[in-house]
Amino acid sequence: METLKHDLISIRDLSREDIDFLLREAQRLKEGKPLHTLKDKKVASLFFEDSTRTRVSFETAAASLGGYVNGFSSAEGTSVKKGEPLADTVRMFAGYGYDALVMRHNLEGSARFAADVLEIPVINGGDGSNGHPSQTLLDLLTISSAHERIDGLKIALVGDLKYGRTVHSLLQALEHYDAEVWLTAPELVKMPEWRVADYRQHTSRDVKNIESLSEVVRNVDVLYMTRIQRERFPEGLEGQMEYERISNIYRLTPELLQEAKEKMIILHPLPRYKTQLENSLGVDKLPQAHYLNQAQQGLFMRQALLHHLLLGHWFSGKPKTVSEPESQWEELSIPDGTKKGERMVYRLDNGTVIDHIEESQGKKVLEALGLRDYHETPLILAQSLSSDRYGRKDVIGVQNRELTEQELSILALVSARARVNIVRDGRVVRKGKIVPPAVVERLVQCQNRKCVTFPDNYEHAPSKFYVEEREPLLLRCHYCEEPVGRERMKLVC
Ligand code: NCD
Repeated sequence: METLKHDLISIRDLSREDIDFLLREAQRLKEGKPLHTLKDKKVASLFFEDSTRTRVSFETAAASLGGYVNGFSSAEGTSVKKGEPLADTVRMFAGYGYDALVMRHNLEGSARFAADVLEIPVINGGDGSNGHPSQTLLDLLTISSAHERIDGLKIALVGDLKYGRTVHSLLQALEHYDAEVWLTAPELVKMPEWRVADYRQHTSRDVKNIESLSEVVRNVDVLYMTRIQRERFPEGLEGQMEYERISNIYRLTPELLQEAKEKMIILHPLPRYKTQLENSLGVDKLPQAHYLNQAQQGLFMRQALLHHLLLGHWFSGKPKTVSEPESQWEELSIPDGTKKGERMVYRLDNGTVIDHIEESQGKKVLEALGLRDYHETPLILAQSLSSDRYGRKDVIGVQNRELTEQELSILALVSARARVNIVRDGRVVRKGKIVPPAVVERLVQCQNRKCVTFPDNYEHAPSKFYVEEREPLLLRCHYCEEPVGRERMKLVC
């Protein structure tokens, strides 16, 4: 039987059943003695970025199940320092016969990219500011151990919600639970709007933005504190000043916590800063402080993950499915085989007329289609024509040529209104609106500079987007998960 390769890259890959299954499995491992289920298995632990808990708990988890672990704990001393691309580094470990790879990297989408180039399971131990799914699973384990449920709780995420990957994954996971999410962050590091929009869209619930930490303390059942991610701020003086401006805004102290509910728990993915402790040392002694215990839960959750990923017993294990449109064309009827308006502007006997392009977008469409060389492809661009339907429109006529499938896809991406007419011997033989494909590969450039596909990062990851909505168009980067609409979309040229 062919076994599917399973990775843990994003919380988005998991259903509620998957998460609940893993919580039960980790609980089972916590209560029992680990069996040597990973005997003869090799786990690569590749930490291109600093880590204490995630790396050591994964490595300890693998070793406690009888597995062999090797890798590196920083790029220092490896060929990464010589400028090696990520794909080469990870491929080599697969080549040495490793059975799984755990990785942390500063680029967003790096783990997804590694998973795409490898045949072995990949676990994301943190990809830049994007996500940290195994941390979220251990966070949920801590919450459900303390409260015996996740549904019905009020959960506040506090601190750096912009750059903090743990809170990004946690917010995604909370979509599956009937919890109330409160967000508390300095203006400069608020939760990105698109992440909140995703939460709203997937749950039909809203988050609560609360400025006052004491209000949070008085009300919530879980207070998830985070460190301001200094290393992700822009380099130089400006970044330094931004960081200093916000680094001390939210701080938990025993005094502030006096009004907390007795059963409230404080979590923190750790590390915390020794110079400006966001959870002061006095808090450690309070019954609400669960963060040290939280880190310990990581061992059991990571045992559960390694066990199931390596042995191929994945939970529901559904690969991502995309629904391709039935046809690239949404056919429109052809009234009488000709088009009066076009005849007034030009006469095209054979070729393609792209009609109803948004006013002043004609040039952009030509550019997107690579039809800049007017000599090579005889064509007509008519701008700002009057249109009964839209007031004004641009029209393009391409002589003696029909558009390829790829060109039609590009057209559907750049223009919402365009209608394509295929003309043969002076008659329109096909007319329709072009439907964007389900997956857009190598056509659109992700605008997130930290994305593994961004050209300046030189990882040579091919761009890939899923079409989440066709109208209005919304694409989602396969790697860094950022959405992009038509207005901000940039084509790869
Ligand atoms: C977090 C991380 O690396 O994202 N730590 C962790 O994995 N336990 C949080 C942080 O670095 O602040």
